[in-house]
Order: sequence, then structure tokens, then C-alpha cells
Amino acid sequence: MNPAAFSRSWCATRRLLLACVLMGVAAVAQAQTIRYDATTRVFRIDTDAVTYAFGVNENDQLQTLYWGARLSTGDALPAAHTNEGNVSFDPPTSTSLQEYAGWGGSMYVEPDLKLRYADGNRDLVLHYVSHRIEGDTLDVHLRDIRQPLDVTLHYVVDPATGIIGRSALIENHTKQVVTIDSVAAASWNLPAAEDYSLRYLTGRWAGEWQLQTRAITPGNTVLESRRGSTGHENNPWFAIERGGDWAEDHGDVWFGALAWSGSWRITVEQGVLHQVRVTGGFNPFDFAWPLAPGESLSTPVFYAGYTSGGIGEASRLLHRFELAQIVPQHPKPRLRPVLYNSWEATNFAVDQAGQEHLAELAASIGVERFVMDDGWFGARNDDHAGLGDWVVNPKKFPHGLKPLIDKVHALKMDFGLWVEPEMVNPDSDLYRAHPDWVLNFTDRPRSEGRNQLVLNLARQDVRDHVFKVLDDLLSHNDIAFLKWDYNRNWSEPGWPQVAPDQQQKIYVDYVRNLYGILAELRKRHPNVEIESCSGGGGRVDLGILGHTDEVWTSDNTDPFDRLSIQDGFSYAYAPAVMMAWVTDSPNWVNNRRTSLDYRFLSSMQGSLGIGANLLHWTAKDFAVAKKYVAEYKAIRASVQQGKLYRLLSPRDDSPHAATESVSQDGKQAVLFAFLHASQMKYPYPRVRLQGLDPDARYRWRSLHGAPVAGTLAEASGAYWMNHGIDLALKGDYQAAAIVFDRVGGKR
Ligand code: DGJ
Repeated sequence: MNPAAFSRSWCATRRLLLACVLMGVAAVAQAQTIRYDATTRVFRIDTDAVTYAFGVNENDQLQTLYWGARLSTGDALPAAHTNEGNVSFDPPTSTSLQEYAGWGGSMYVEPDLKLRYADGNRDLVLHYVSHRIEGDTLDVHLRDIRQPLDVTLHYVVDPATGIIGRSALIENHTKQVVTIDSVAAASWNLPAAEDYSLRYLTGRWAGEWQLQTRAITPGNTVLESRRGSTGHENNPWFAIERGGDWAEDHGDVWFGALAWSGSWRITVEQGVLHQVRVTGGFNPFDFAWPLAPGESLSTPVFYAGYTSGGIGEASRLLHRFELAQIVPQHPKPRLRPVLYNSWEATNFAVDQAGQEHLAELAASIGVERFVMDDGWFGARNDDHAGLGDWVVNPKKFPHGLKPLIDKVHALKMDFGLWVEPEMVNPDSDLYRAHPDWVLNFTDRPRSEGRNQLVLNLARQDVRDHVFKVLDDLLSHNDIAFLKWDYNRNWSEPGWPQVAPDQQQKIYVDYVRNLYGILAELRKRHPNVEIESCSGGGGRVDLGILGHTDEVWTSDNTDPFDRLSIQDGFSYAYAPAVMMAWVTDSPNWVNNRRTSLDYRFLSSMQGSLGIGANLLHWTAKDFAVAKKYVAEYKAIRASVQQGKLYRLLSPRDDSPHAATESVSQDGKQAVLFAFLHASQMKYPYPRVRLQGLDPDARYRWRSLHGAPVAGTLAEASGAYWMNHGIDLALKGDYQAAAIVFDRVGGKR
């Protein structure tokens, strides 16, 4: 009898009813994710693999107690006590692991909240007041020791991954304006150790997603964007490991990502006692937020998790979390369609006949979504004019977009369109009518980037205009997809129309209005999907992913460069949201020549798109492409939504790269392997698979390339994972893709 049936039959005995009720209560308490022990004043969050705990110390301040592998429920954590500090220079306030620190008292580490009262007082000491637990959420109410300045810390737990989201709400119940100088969503504290190492992602246009690793030593590492948006330069993601070997499949890893698409900052700080604190939120650079009496400010959410399964498992947990909890279609996003995009084929030279021709060719290889890129509107023939004028160019499309859209539908594809709604060319009707709508300081120069200025979306009239333009576009045209571009960073971020003390709110109000527009558009047009693009991957974060279905990874479409770009991307973000196009050879970025097979296999590791000029393709190219598109449809569930294993890294001048995607049901695994340059006749390293059922049997088939002669046609998961597979890869820019399908029976 299983335990549930046992419990039911036992409880059927009326004599034991009371005992059953009590047991039921105990069982519920046992299963609870979040608990509070009133005796020790300890909060404890338990998921299957993770425990996170903090307590109220003897000074009524919140102090982190533990974050790591799951502790036994019977291990009652002792009450929080302030650290004794280190003589007068490093007092307990600074050396205790404060869960959310106000800047006040003796506080030398990164504070979570720093503010000014109107009378010049800048001291803030936050004490615990009360809390509320509801399901998988916890709110903890803190208050300043002298003023009714309230902070509510919000925790939301995802039991499936152990990832916790933290944010803060600051409320001014005083009778004076309080100015917030800096405010974080959360600080994540790790226990003292000297062998922590940090990973983070850096980049630039056409060179995003470069993985960096450095030892954490005393002092601060600041990851940030001061650019008004997420930026290419740093991405708001981090991972910290103990020991520094960064194994993919084992080791303690703490990781996190900030859900914010404006200027942001994450500070990784090792204090004087070697404790590590990761603080993240709005970037305080050029930030000031006056909070009038009765007003409040909420922060973005800073998500973080822990695993003992190495950086590979950390990535898989994030991928799973993003698809199940973040993206608009969560918890079960539909599979990404294969799309065609016209940009690299035509640049701005789009017109009805040309796009229809491309659409016919795209449909012939099995494309499911046809996307027309830049150039379809206003006086847009290059990047000097037209941006902001979202009316169809009558010369290029004399009868509007309808004939093209109808044609695309007749070819059994849906239609997508490029827009860049937050920007304006000075040479546009919109700018001529509303020169005051752009970010600017009065009587100061306006710096252009790609001949364009940034509309001040923080303004209500600008926000309403942008919303209306897009709402009209989607209401009057049968559009299934918007590629939402954003091609420069901010400069002169002035907002002269509001009072001087309100102008720096622009950093938050802009992004909130952007999210608001996206949310309202999705509500009014629920079938429309959106891609976040910013000159490639300049706006990718968990905030924008809450409103968009996929992202454009990089403008760099060279399939070899893409291997390391995609590898870096995969540390933080799911393959399902990673759009990857097959484009022309030689590639425009670096003139590199690669085969169509190599280009397809590089792109098939994410969400497949085609961006080549199909007018230049041969009959053989079409046949090859048709084969891969069909094959991709058969494996895309595994690739997009499966478990990703990074088997061979393309970084550090390695001549090899390999990834493996295992479907969620474990029935299929897809191996992609790449050889960049054969040297000295060395064989390709044997590839050992991961994540298979050791007792199940798997038969391989090749999409391209092959294992060496004599390879077993079918073997157990244990065989493929322990013995591995030898691939017959030789030469430069070679690739192989092998699909392992589970066959009936055990080994
Ligand atoms: C930048 C994007 O990243 C490209 O894919 C393309 O859409 C251009 N903008 C269009 O101007």
C-alpha cells in the first residue's frame, strides 16, 4: 500500500479522526516552502534541493543565515546574532550579513537603500516589524528606527528550480519628501570563503556574450549599464563558484539575473571578513528619486538560485525557470517557428515585388514565418531618414502591406514586421512636429547615434503616441510578429518638461512605460509575438523577456563567431529564446567562407531563422536547406526546450565545440559538434554524452557528418555517456549533428 492509500484507510477509522487532522496539519507544514519560527525568529525557504534562511537578530535587523544545498527539516537553524566585527574599524553593522541594509549607522559595505530626508538627515536603520507568508511568497515589513519610512521585502519562490525572486517596495509615510539616492532589489549573501570565483558576460555590438571569469578577491567588481537600457557591454547575470574549476557537471554554484531593461548595476563585493555580497538593482549613477509623502517606489526583481550540480546545471535551471515562469507564454511556450528575415538580403531596399519573391522562396524550404525588416515605412531608404514615421512607404508598397501579407498567408506562413518605436530620425515628420519629444537638455547639443535620437518614452504623450501607432499597425494588418529594434544608447538624458527634481526619474519611468506598452499591446493583440532586438543582443534580460518571446542574439551572423556568442548566451538564457539565422557565405562580418551545412548546424542550436539572400541560392542550396528545415522541425522541441549540455567549449582558442540537447521526456538527444581547424592529423576528441537514461537504449542517426566507421548503431545510455562516440570530423569549419532516439527496451 502506498503512503497516501495507507493514510486514507487509517483515517477512515473515526476513532483516529483527531489524530489524522493533526497529522494532516503536520504534513502540510512539512510540505510548506516558506516557514517562520517565532521562537528563533528565523525565516526558512526550502525547495527540493535548496535551503535559504535569514533571521531577525538581537538588534531587530534582518541577517542572512544560510543559502545552499537543502538542509534537513529537522535541522532547526539557530537565531541570528550580529557578527562580532573586527575592532572599531569594521563594526558588527558592516560585517553582519544584512539581508537588506539601509545606509545608516556604521555601514561600509554596499547598502541596498540610501536616502535623504528633506532636513538633510541621511541616516537609515531598518528594523523588522512584521511579515506575511502566502503560498510561495513572503513579505517582510521593515521600518526606519525614527521615521515612518517603510520597506517591504518581497520573496517569491519557484519550488521547481529553487530560484528565488526578491524585490523591495519603499514607502514614504513621513510628512516630507524623501529622496532616494540608490535602491537595490536585493543583496544575496554568501558565507565567508577565499576560493570564490565569478563568471559574467561582457561584449559589444557584433561581439556579445563573451564569458569572463575572475577570482573574487577583497574589493568590488561592478557590472553595470549606464546606457539607459540593458546594453551589450555587460549583461545583468552572474554566477559564483567555489573552488574555481567551473566544472559543467559538479560544484557549488550560486547564480542570479536581474529583471530590468534600463540602467542597472550588480556589485559583487568581498568584505574584510571574506564574506561575499551581491547587490543588484537600479543603477544609482545619475539616479535620484524624490518620494513625496504617501508615495512609493518598487524595484525590479533580482532572481537567484543555487545548485551543487555545477555551472551546467545552473544554466539548465535558469533555462527551465525562464520558460516556466518568465516568458509571456509561460509555463508552456509554443515552439518557435522557423522564420525568414529580409535584412541581410535587402537592407533598406524592400518593396512589394521583392518581398513577395523572397517569401515564395522562403516558403519553398519550409519557413513558417516571413519577417520584413527595416525600410518599409516613411522616407526610409537608408538610416538617415524616416524613423518615427510609421506609415507604409507608398512607392515601395503602393497598395499598403495587405497584398504582401495576403501573399505570405497564401504561402502558409505568418507575417512579421520590423519596428523601432522608441527612436526618431531628425529628418522625419515626427521630429519636425515634436522636437521636444526626444531626450535632451535645454540648449545643449543632441548627440545622434546611427543618425537617430531617443524618444522620451517617460513622457505620457510620447508613450501614448507610440502605443497608438503600434496598436493601429496591429489592428489594421494581420501581423503575427514584431521585431522590436532599438539601435542606440542614451545621451543627454534630460526631461526638461518636468520639475528639475523629477527629471532623473526618467531612468525608471521610461522602462516602465516600455513594459506597459508591450503588456497592453499583448493584451489587445494576444496572438502577436515579439522579438527584442537592440542592434543584436543589446537588450536581453529577464525584464524584457517577461514581455517578449525571443531575442535577436547578435548582428554577427558568422556561424563560427556565433559558436562562442551562443555558448556565452547559453549560460544565462534558454536556447528557445535565442534567434539564430543562417546567412550568406562569405559572411559580411569577416568574409569567412563556410558551407551551408556548417551554417545550418550552427544556427540549429537555437531558434532557427534564415537570413540569407535566397535570390543567390542554387537549386542544391534549396534542397540542402529544405532538408535541414524539415530535420529541425523534428528536433526543435529538444533543442529549444530540452536540457542543454555544453560538452566541448568553443572558448580559449579551442578547435572544437559540441553541445547536446536532451528532450524533457528523455526520448531524444541531439549532438552538435564542430571542428574549426584540423591540426596535426589529431582525431576529433571522443564525445561523451550526458543526461541520458543509462539503462535505456539509443539508436543514432546522422543529420550531417558521421561517427567513425564501426560505431555501434545502437547502445545503452550508459555506453554513450561513458564510452562516448567518435566522430569522423576532419578539415576546417566542419560540423556534425547526430540525433539519438530512444528505442524500446532496457540494456
Ligand atoms: C539592427 C538589427 O540588429 C538588424 O537585424 C536589423 O534589423 C537592423 N537593425 C535594421 O536597421
